[in-house]
Amino acid sequence: MSRRAWRSILTADGWRARIVLPLSAGVVLAASALLTGFPHAESATAQNSYSYTGVASCAGSTCHGRSEGNGAVVRQDEIATWQEPSAVSGAHSRAYAVLAGRRGRQIAQSLGWENATSRSECLGCHSTFVPVSQQGPRFHMEDGVGCESCHGAAAGWIATHYEVGGTHPANVANGLTPLELPQTRARICLDCHYGSADEGQFVTHAMMAAGHPRISFELDLFSAFQQHHDADGDYLERKGGTDSVQLWAVGQAEAVARATDLYARPDLATEGVFPEFYFYDCHSCHRAITDGPERRLTFETNPQRPIPFGQPPFNDENIIMLDAVAQALAPTRAEAFRSASRNFHGAMQQGRAPAQQAAMALRSEAARLSDALAARSYGGNDAFEVIETIGGRVTSSRFTDYAGSAQAVMAVDTLLNALVTRGRITVGAAAGIRADINRAYQAVRTPESYNPAEFRSAIGNAVNAIGRLR
Ligand code: HEC
Ligand code: HEC
Ligand code: HEC
Ligand code: HEC
Repeated sequence: MSRRAWRSILTADGWRARIVLPLSAGVVLAASALLTGFPHAESATAQNSYSYTGVASCAGSTCHGRSEGNGAVVRQDEIATWQEPSAVSGAHSRAYAVLAGRRGRQIAQSLGWENATSRSECLGCHSTFVPVSQQGPRFHMEDGVGCESCHGAAAGWIATHYEVGGTHPANVANGLTPLELPQTRARICLDCHYGSADEGQFVTHAMMAAGHPRISFELDLFSAFQQHHDADGDYLERKGGTDSVQLWAVGQAEAVARATDLYARPDLATEGVFPEFYFYDCHSCHRAITDGPERRLTFETNPQRPIPFGQPPFNDENIIMLDAVAQALAPTRAEAFRSASRNFHGAMQQGRAPAQQAAMALRSEAARLSDALAARSYGGNDAFEVIETIGGRVTSSRFTDYAGSAQAVMAVDTLLNALVTRGRITVGAAAGIRADINRAYQAVRTPESYNPAEFRSAIGNAVNAIGRLR
């Protein structure tokens, strides 16, 4: 299924309903056969001090290369899931190949480049982008976003991580990334699913204008989409559980921290005399205008964003969600966060330096919330309370733009799912309000058809329906 296709299923059953882990037949690593003339392993083996071993080194049939997920401890068919051609879960294995596909070529051409496959500006997110000196003999950049992009460079632990008697803390000490920790996971995903200050990990508006798709992300939902592990008994024993509400909430906090951190950096936030448009709400500039007497305003002002009429707002999709999280789950920090975010929007009209200052202040508040949300325990009515806050008047009045509204539907979907997982709502009851959720998805099906008032009414109905199950 193409990425566009899954986005269009917003209308059908919501994103959540599409998560099906594929059972694939014997799969071989295909991508490594490609040769594009990219400098490879040979030179690295000579030094023998590489740290990235490559996907092929995980692929043995006694390792992660099985065709069925019937391993005793881990499923062992992780590679099959990672490269499933017909599923969203296979997106990372395709990440390099899409650079050479039609859209990748169009983007490169518009930017005046020969191709995208040799550009660090693209490889930073579309491959495991590490220096040749760190690439082992079985490492291939063509494998796309490989296991080590998320799990960490494997040379230090690959030989020992499956040993009898080995422990997770020992593996982590050897360099395995503890992805079960929400903050750690969020930061790794955000490097590519928002951007980072590292080489090749920032999508500029120029790239967007050249044809790069918009990037939208929600940590819990996207984790589920690419999930290739079972959170079974032994997993819980080794790593503890990962709570969906926590993953979602920490994901929001880390996203705000990341956006404001990058915005505050002198090299990323401006493009000549212009601000870098990537940070702003796309649709505030990309709207049709009418000049005739029938003119109707196509946007709404937003009470929590004191910016001059007609200015593009900073994309505040995660700020709105984190405000709701803070109200519901970290009330002692809520007012400080809200005022920092209002100051940040307000500082935009004062100049670059004050905006930068205000971004850093907002970043600190988001980081504090992230720590608080990571340390907190979850359960009881917390998911109900966040949902209620999202549907409440104060938060709801901020749904004036497409990005924030799309983020809110993902949130309600994720939180409803968490309630089902926890046994607070039965599968049957959740199915009963699916139609309400689907109407909210329908309201954000495309930015062009988005209408704020319709959206608020749709999300309000979904939230009320969930509230009645409390
Ligand atoms: C900050 C990380 C980042 C950078 C830099 C980046 N991309 Fe992407 N790219 C992504 C993500 C994430 C997606 C998936 C977006 C989604 O579905 O939410 C994507 C999607 C795409 C797609 C659509 C893939 C599909 O399955 O249809 C193409 C094509 C693409 N990128 C090409 C490029 C090119 C060419 C460059 C360099 C000019 C580039 N990207 C730079 C992160 C990045
Ligand atoms: C996009 C990031 C990402 C990529 C790429 C990725 N993983 Fe994972 N993987 C995760 C996350 C997140 C988890 C769940 C958290 C955890 O247990 O580490 C996980 C879990 C696992 C587990 C279960 C661990 C356990 O303790 O039970 C295995 C095994 C695994 N991955 C292997 C692989 C292999 C092999 C590849 C490459 C084919 C791969 N992963 C690629 C993110 C990724
Ligand atoms: C090294 C960069 C990188 C990292 C790290 C990364 N991703 Fe991705 N991810 C991508 C790119 C690039 C794409 C788009 C690939 C394509 O469409 O071919 C993508 C696509 C996806 C998709 C499919 C989205 C779609 O529109 O079809 C999901 C789901 C996803 N990533 C989840 C995650 C999660 C969860 C994490 C963290 C555990 C993560 N990713 C970490 C680069 C990355
Ligand atoms: C401050 C205003 C502003 C913001 C915010 C903005 N853009 Fe643009 N965008 C422009 C301008 C100016 C152009 C140049 C083409 C034009 O004049 O319409 C453009 C061009 C584009 C094009 C090419 C249109 C075409 O005709 O092919 C795309 C695609 C695009 N932007 C996507 C985005 C995305 C995605 C975002 C949000 C991440 C975004 N833009 C945010 C002002 C903006």
